[in-house]
Amino acid sequence: MNENINWAALPFGYYPTDFNVRCTFRDGKWGDIEVSQSDTLNIHMAATCLHYGQEIFEGLKAFRGKDGKIRIFRMDENARRIRRSAEGLMMEPIPEKLFKMMCVMAVKLNNRFVPPYESGASLYIRPLEIGLSPRIGVKPASEYMFVVMVTPVGPYFKQGFGVSNYCITRAHDRVAPKGTGQFKCGGNYAAAMRAGEEAHGKGYSAVLFLDPLEKKYLDECGPANFFAVKDGKYITPASDSILPSITNMSLMTLCEDLGIPVERRHILVEELADCSEAAAIGTAAVASPIGNIDDLDTGKTYVMSHDGKPGPITTMLYDKLNAIRYGLEEDVHGWNFILDEDRIEP
Ligand code: PLP
Ligand code: COI
Repeated sequence: MNENINWAALPFGYYPTDFNVRCTFRDGKWGDIEVSQSDTLNIHMAATCLHYGQEIFEGLKAFRGKDGKIRIFRMDENARRIRRSAEGLMMEPIPEKLFKMMCVMAVKLNNRFVPPYESGASLYIRPLEIGLSPRIGVKPASEYMFVVMVTPVGPYFKQGFGVSNYCITRAHDRVAPKGTGQFKCGGNYAAAMRAGEEAHGKGYSAVLFLDPLEKKYLDECGPANFFAVKDGKYITPASDSILPSITNMSLMTLCEDLGIPVERRHILVEELADCSEAAAIGTAAVASPIGNIDDLDTGKTYVMSHDGKPGPITTMLYDKLNAIRYGLEEDVHGWNFILDEDRIEP
């Protein structure tokens, strides 16, 4: 374990680790996996990733359990999602086995950066694929690089599992109605940066975006999905313009296990008035409880927490998810990949 890190105080940021792993697709095939100690990439200045946005990524986490074992959460789902992102951006799909092998290698090689159980921190795994071929005409690359880097992280929002406020604005969209919202590509985050920074400047954690076509329904929640609790039910937006969140998928399954009804459907903005809890959910955000949601255009405030505390359903789901990821509770759905115990299947 790296003794110099104040694990419990880690922000969600880049902390250098020992190694990253890389693999290049060239001449129609993926090459050998390379282990690198460099944190820079040497790429052509006309590479498609730099000019035409051929960049996709993933985000997943490894946790050191109370039993000392390291668990990677739902890696298969990230392997599947990056394949869909590659197809969406006309990039080379990464074979699932290669994806998983490289994630496991990156965690193993950086074992001393997997935070201790007591710290509540985790090792964030950030796989990314970029188009390498030089192009000036707009055309997909024929060469690609896939890199897996890791970095130890703390909570995404500084409040951690404390409530914070969000805002609704109709001034910006994150993605277009039939655009790239379902894919995890860098361009979506660039497109959302102005809205995000404006919201931060006003003291909000993030923007709760509305559907980009009609601006009637709730959509993506900053760099996360959204759920609310209405009449004891877990409700979450069904939308073609949001990223299918693996955390959201997991929480919906946990709701079923706990007997909490789930509705994945269009949610009108006005329904927020009848909701008693809400959270931003994702790998980085985990379940970040929401206090107020201010609609900046109508001046309405929707109160999601009356006592300034996370609600009971949010707390129950957050605790259960963590109990599974830290190995405190039986992993009945087979979500964890345990290092040095589980094998990578093709
Ligand atoms: N939505 C966006 C835009 C994201 O960046 C993320 C983070 O990955 C999510 C949702 C949540 O997805 P997941 O739970 O798979 O991390
Ligand atoms: C994640 O939750 O893994 C994300 O990618 C969100 C954000 C840090 C971009």
